Amino acid sequence: MWVRAARAIRALRRAALLLPLALTALVLLLLPRPPSLDPAPRSPSPPVPPPALDANIENSITESEFAAVQDDGTVQLPWFMRGGDKRPTQHEPNAALFPEDAPGQDRVVNQLMYTLPKDEDVPIKKILLANGFGAWGVSGGRTEFIRNKCPVDRCTLSSDARDAATADAILYKDHHTPFNVKRSPKQIWILYYLECPYHTASLRPTSVDVFNWTSTYRRDSDIVAPYEHWVYYDPLIIEKDLDRNFAANKTKKVAWFVSNCHARNRRLQYARQLSKYIQVDIYGACGAHHCPRTDPNCLEMLDKDYKFYLAFENSNCRDYVTEKFFVNGLQHNVLPIVMGARASEYAALAPHNSYVHVEEFASPEELAAYLRRLDEDDNLYNSYFKWKGTGEFINTYFFCRVCAMVHANERRQRSAHYSDVQAWWRDGACTRAEWRAAGAASSAQRDTRDNG
Ligand SMILES: *[C@@H]1O[C@H](CO)[C@@H](O)[C@H](O)[C@H]1NC(C)=O
Ligand SMILES: *[C@@H]1O[C@H](CO)[C@@H](O)[C@H](O)[C@H]1NC(C)=O
Repeated sequence: MWVRAARAIRALRRAALLLPLALTALVLLLLPRPPSLDPAPRSPSPPVPPPALDANIENSITESEFAAVQDDGTVQLPWFMRGGDKRPTQHEPNAALFPEDAPGQDRVVNQLMYTLPKDEDVPIKKILLANGFGAWGVSGGRTEFIRNKCPVDRCTLSSDARDAATADAILYKDHHTPFNVKRSPKQIWILYYLECPYHTASLRPTSVDVFNWTSTYRRDSDIVAPYEHWVYYDPLIIEKDLDRNFAANKTKKVAWFVSNCHARNRRLQYARQLSKYIQVDIYGACGAHHCPRTDPNCLEMLDKDYKFYLAFENSNCRDYVTEKFFVNGLQHNVLPIVMGARASEYAALAPHNSYVHVEEFASPEELAAYLRRLDEDDNLYNSYFKWKGTGEFINTYFFCRVCAMVHANERRQRSAHYSDVQAWWRDGACTRAEWRAAGAASSAQRDTRDNG
């Protein structure tokens, strides 16, 4: 976060007169999510990029990540934040929308702030949902785009297999069941995954080279679909003074709600080790404490009684950070201790100084020692809550972005596909060990995407 913030500050200075901004907001999620194993709703999204002044300058991405600060110093929030009304007014042909436009960035905000030229009569694009409307919780036709006031709303949704030959894009969720019709080279096939590689089915060998785009929580997907996505109101303000003491009245140390006791990353073993050195209350099937999932008091305990929450994902996979962190953790007044993605990946998608990563410590014992120190030092503990109120988790309007991308792709005459989407998705993406033990092997990543 510090690096990002510093970059943002530099970028903003450079662009101060041209393109100020500011923003953010807390969100919802667009997509219906399946119930998770652990007691938690759904959620997150990663960080944000916006329209670049010059797509060739590395830092330019960051400027557009934020809402606009006007010349008079007031902040005009973008349309996708609560109370925001700043909408894109101009078509930016070179906006950083695709992965190659802004390596390492998720481009979500850029996609949300993309619009088409006002003076053109742009034809409607047809997007076929191969799994039907129910799988997405949307209705057909143009409703989804109009209702959400998408800046690019010239799209229609279909679930009718008879549209397979003529659709501009086909969106496949979790599986690929080909339609038996000839495919136009202009038709864009999109593969969407909600879950991590351990929990997605393998594709048939004949399906690995047919997809043009991916849509997953991974930051390098074409259309990133994060569980939650944090955006600051003003990139220069990533901390606020607190008007309360988050440690007040808390008498318990570490809580964890968990029901899957056999996760591949051995999180339960880690928690048990940790419990030798600090009080860890494990609720659910894997522990001695009970609180029914349906009881709202369970999560309330995190606000009132506990200092720390183990926001441990069930898998250690690249960029894989779910509602366990965003909802159980950040949306309560408790400090999340995280395990899942790499520390650098959490840093890219979480609010500044909002969590503690297990791999910052050599062992559970050392982590426990740090937690005990936080427990005794209210100022230090409270320093992890200063991000609150500096931004929001936004609605990332998935279908607005799909529509924008389909149009942008055609305007650019862009063509791309994954020569092996399975390799892109799986190779080096997850580790059963800690990331630091997984080492270089897991960071080697094959580039399986061809742009041509
Ligand atoms: C702590 O408890 C006191 C007394 O019940 C209450 O007045 C106060 O609001 C509580 N503080 C917090 C931060 O919950
Ligand atoms: C989509 O991918 C196919 C190969 O899988 C390719 O032939 C086609 O040109 C691509 N189309 C676009 C619009 O990227």
